[in-house]
Amino acid sequence: MKKVYIKSYGCQMNVYDSGRMIDLLKPLGYEPQANYPGADIVILNTCHIREKADEKLFSDLGRIRPYQEEKSDSGRRMLVIVAGCVGQAQGGEIIKRTPYVDIVLGPQTYHRLPEMIARALRTVDGKGIVDTEFPLETKFDSLPEMSEGVGPSAFLSIQEGCDKFCTFCVVPYTRGAEFSRPVQDVLREAQSLADKGVKEITLLGQNVNAYHGIDPQGGKEWGLGRLLEKLSDIKGVERLRYMTSHPRDMDEDLILAHRDLPKVMPFLHLPVQSGSDRILEAMNRKHKAALYFEIIQKLREVRPDIALSSDFIVGFPGETEADFEATLNLVRDVKFHMAYSFKYSPRPGTPGSAMESQVPEEVKSERLSCLQDLLISHQIEVNQKMIGQRTSVLLDRQGKREGQYLGRNPYMQSVYVEANPRLWGQIVEVDITDAFQNSLTGKIVVEERVIEAA
Ligand code: 5AD
Ligand code: SF4
Repeated sequence: MKKVYIKSYGCQMNVYDSGRMIDLLKPLGYEPQANYPGADIVILNTCHIREKADEKLFSDLGRIRPYQEEKSDSGRRMLVIVAGCVGQAQGGEIIKRTPYVDIVLGPQTYHRLPEMIARALRTVDGKGIVDTEFPLETKFDSLPEMSEGVGPSAFLSIQEGCDKFCTFCVVPYTRGAEFSRPVQDVLREAQSLADKGVKEITLLGQNVNAYHGIDPQGGKEWGLGRLLEKLSDIKGVERLRYMTSHPRDMDEDLILAHRDLPKVMPFLHLPVQSGSDRILEAMNRKHKAALYFEIIQKLREVRPDIALSSDFIVGFPGETEADFEATLNLVRDVKFHMAYSFKYSPRPGTPGSAMESQVPEEVKSERLSCLQDLLISHQIEVNQKMIGQRTSVLLDRQGKREGQYLGRNPYMQSVYVEANPRLWGQIVEVDITDAFQNSLTGKIVVEERVIEAA
């Protein structure tokens, strides 16, 4: 068996894509391995969202190079492949700077990987192959059935790309135009996951709630709310999640799905980025802070316990103390269960990078730590409120200690429990006993059954 090592950087979409690349390579006789030494193929599935992505890539490539040389000294080959968004953005430059890279491809062409590998293996010390097209055929039509990375909780990519062009973001350039997979394809993949024992499906998309897939009759388009309703009918799948959403696409159907569909988990990752209308406009987010509050209010009306999560950027060009204060106020008002916050990083080719009044690094750092302190204090508070409560947990990961397992509750909180290995992959009821910044601990509820004498 030949070996392939694949490393995913960045978002869940890349984790999903990496799984699909392994699925493509398995029929060619490649088996995944956990590290790069000795591998026949090394794939780095890169992310370009914030800075240092290319530096990380080049330093990883530098570390891999000696192993590639070693292999070639013994008369064999290690193909080095750069995939993902850095590949898309910098194709030719990568080959120029690191000529030992055999293939560079973007997120939209990895279905052509087998053909590219065959071509690369035919060339003795050939020039690197670059394929960063946005092809007319979609990769989803040519991918084999999913098998890789299927545990009790799985990702399913339903939408890709973005037409929103936020002024800080590279996604519309690296992932291309917005595209939704047809409903039928999504249902088929979800059913096949259910057949493999998957209990939780997370629907993925850069703009997942902009989903508008063509319906099974090929006539109308369905939004995400309708899709979730149909997915709810699949037996065996107990939990449905989706990410990442944009406030502008939170339509009524989707909000009501949180009321009407018990399988849709009471958790929503809804990035707002900033609480200042001025900055939201400069970011081209196409909405004001008020819309965000409105959505949260509607969601809480239909699902009072819904847990909220968000992304924030501090130090966007032109951000003043007052703008930053507006962000802090939004955070205080909403109280997020969890959140990701970043210093603004100018990305080449995006409008934000050319804007005047870039914020100095020290100011960004100060604001970031101030915001993070506030977010963490809320996260701890929310976690502590769980002590004494009963919550259901899908045990899908090994804990740090022997006999310890880890899983998520409906609110995406990580819960550690001691459990019998036969409970792995099951949804169990847990009484929460302790809470920390990033996790909870608890005890599995043992059902007491009265066995009546016959
Ligand atoms: N600088 C900092 N953060 C960014 N993000 C996207 N682009 C940038 C950038 N240029 C953040 C946003 C987005 C998340 C995935 O990454 O908050 O929601
Ligand atoms: Fe990037 Fe904005 Fe599109 Fe999200 S909505 S992927 S932040 S451009």
